[in-house]
Amino acid sequence: MSKYIERFSPSERVLHWVVTCSFFTLLFTGLGLYSRLFHGYFGLFGGGQNAIFIHKVGGVIFFFSSLYMFINHKKDVSSFDDADWQWIRKYGGYLTKYGTHFDIGKYNPGQKLFAVFIAAATLLLGVTGLFIWMPTAFPRWIVQLSLMTHGLMFVGAIMFVVVHVYLATIGNPGTIEAMLYGAVRKIWAKKHHPKWYKDVTGENP
Ligand code: HEM
Repeated sequence: MSKYIERFSPSERVLHWVVTCSFFTLLFTGLGLYSRLFHGYFGLFGGGQNAIFIHKVGGVIFFFSSLYMFINHKKDVSSFDDADWQWIRKYGGYLTKYGTHFDIGKYNPGQKLFAVFIAAATLLLGVTGLFIWMPTAFPRWIVQLSLMTHGLMFVGAIMFVVVHVYLATIGNPGTIEAMLYGAVRKIWAKKHHPKWYKDVTGENP
């Protein structure tokens, strides 16, 4: 009997890595646009003009792929049940040394919050990005407000992503296998997502 169960299909994984690659491309092409301190990053892309061009192309790819990923996840991230509230009240068990058990479905509340935040940030980054892309086509105050919102959303997104990457790798060993190979160990699923394990296998964890 296999020790693994499927968590993500190949197309879900490809979509996640397209979102990730475009996100980090936007990060490195965008940093130099915010401050001279980061102009060195332009060198990675063959100069400032190229970096701006790649930022625009990356922005379009990120916008559509990230929103599409959210649409795929929507049913799993848009509602909270009793176990989720319990998870929130106990901070996911991260602040206690005692073993905790929450009857969590496919995603825990932290993951749900992250997915919803990234979708909202994607929308705002996309819309404000469009105003910044064509600054002469819109009133000056709209472009200025867009520059500020674009920056704030970027800072929020990068903070969430740093936590996401930590929890998906070092923080919760075994999680990265889901996005690399599409399957997770049953023991991992029983520990982190027991309700999802039961829904998928029909077995009581
Ligand atoms: C090197 C960078 C990244 C790694 C290693 C990584 C890893 C993962 C893993 C392992 C999962 C599956 C979690 C599970 O099965 O419970 C996941 C899910 C997800 N990832 Fe990433 N990810 C990265 C970057 C990103 C970025 C940049 C975004 C969006 C901007 C993103 C958005 C999501 C979302 C929305 C989910 C589903 C909900 C969740 O698990 O939080 N990821 N990621």
